[in-house]
Order: sequence, then C-alpha cells, then structure tokens
Amino acid sequence: MTSNNNNTANDSLKAGPLNNVLLDVLAQKSSWQLLGKSVQRKACHCQNYHLDGRFIIKLFRFPENEILDNTWWIIEHTILSLINGKWGSPISHGYLSFNQDTYNIVIFVRERISGNTLEESNVSILNNAQCKEVGELLANFHNDGIVTRDCTLGNLLLNTDNTLCFIDFGKARSYKNKTLLFFFQAGWDCWKAQWRCAKLEPRLCEIMMNAYWAKLDTNKYTRALYNLMQKITRRQQLMRLKKRGKLPDYI
Ligand SMILES: Nc1ncnc2c1ncn2[C@@H]1O[C@H](COP(=O)(O)OP(=O)(O)O)[C@@H](O)[C@H]1O
Ligand SMILES: [Mg+2]
Repeated sequence: MTSNNNNTANDSLKAGPLNNVLLDVLAQKSSWQLLGKSVQRKACHCQNYHLDGRFIIKLFRFPENEILDNTWWIIEHTILSLINGKWGSPISHGYLSFNQDTYNIVIFVRERISGNTLEESNVSILNNAQCKEVGELLANFHNDGIVTRDCTLGNLLLNTDNTLCFIDFGKARSYKNKTLLFFFQAGWDCWKAQWRCAKLEPRLCEIMMNAYWAKLDTNKYTRALYNLMQKITRRQQLMRLKKRGKLPDYI
C-alpha cells in the first residue's frame, strides 16, 4: 500500500498530510466497526466506520480510471482544519488515498462527537431553543466565511452536553473574501436550514433568523447583501416548492 501522489486519472487525488493519528487508525483497521448503511454514489462506494467510539472513518472506494469532479474530503478536511474544533464541530485527523487492485481508496478520519444526529433520534422538526442554536451556528460559520450548504437534521448532532453541533462539511465551502457568491450561498444556507430543520414553520423560522441576525457581524453594506440574497433565494425556492406541490399549507 502506498500513499498516492501520482495518480494519472485523478490529478486532484492527493495524499493528505500524514500524521500519527491517521496511521494509528489505519493500523487498527480490523477493529473498525460499521456505522449505518453503505452509500453508492455513481461508481463510488462510501462507508462509515467508527473506532473505539473516538474516531469516525469514512472509506471511499472508486474505480481507478474514474475521473472525479469533486474531491469533497479535501475540502472537508480543509474546512474542519480552519474551524479547528470551534462551535462543537469535529476535528479532522486528515485523509489518505492509495491504490488497491483496480480501485482508488480514500480514508478520511474525524474525531467522533458523542451523541446522535437529530435524524437518528427521529426528530422531525427543531424546537424553539434548537432553532435559536442553529441560527447562531450559521451566523458563526458565515462570520468566518464558511457556508455549510447542507444544514439538515441528519447533519446536526445533539452532543452529550445537550448542545447542537454541525458535523458534515462535505458540501461546505470557505471564502477568504466575502464575494457576491458567498452572500448568495449564505442566503441559501439560511433557506435550507429553515426548510429542512424548521419545516418553514413561521414562528420557528423567525426565532432562527432573529438569533442569526443577532450573532451576524455586519455593516450596512453587508447586511443589505445578506438580506437581499436571503430574499431572492426564499422567493425562488418557494416558487419551486409550489410548482412541485410541496409547499406547507401554513405558508
Ligand atoms: N464527527 C462525528 N461524530 C459522531 N458521529 C458522526 C460524525 N461524523 C459522522 N457521524 C455519523 O456518521 C453519519 C454520516 O456522516 P456524514 O458526515 O453526515 O456523512 P454523509 O451524510 O455524507 O453520509 C452521521 O449521520 C453520523 O451518524
Ligand atoms: Mg451527512
């Protein structure tokens, strides 16, 4: 097994920075325990494991000739490294890629946070206090130029201190400069959280967004941009849901 630095089909497939935790976790492969179902995304096979309740390991396998349009684990590792454990998010221990038989394998290791995701606990909608927490979480991310792009009940974990944390940065993006695209994505983030976690219930959305605005660092100019992008996204998405007959009757 070698760490892969010169894969021809996937120039972007690089070995991450090696460290002892990563190598230790790999050495204990026989003790990894399966977590949930495996997921097949096109030709890629993805499976989650945990080790000793301390590490979450994502194992990703795809044919070696498959050209990837998204090396999400690199983005996820980079963003988790930027966050560095703030706001309850897991620490990333890095990733490793190598070639085995006719497959490329990627192993991505994160700290395991004890608790369950809201989806695993069969929560179908946030309560008032959780809406406030999610609003504040999103504002913290946005203040740091990070958009989650996937704020759903399956990606929010209620940890043993009874606080909510966001655990899945596979679709997240980080912006050094707050460009128009950032404000657009931030608006989308707020929409998705209201839609998927508060089911567009007006009172819950109001609590979430009040907490969001209270925590958000803005000046007159950026506040107007955040606001505008939120309104545009909301309008567009409400129309889309209406067309598909999925608009809740309380909207
Ligand atoms: N850091 C973590 N701590 C505890 N559980 C986690 C952690 N990361 C992932 N999980 C568990 O693994 C599942 C899938 O992880 P996630 O990162 O959301 O990947 P995906 O949604 O792409 O399958 C989660 O629903 C959760 O049960
Ligand atoms: Mg997820």
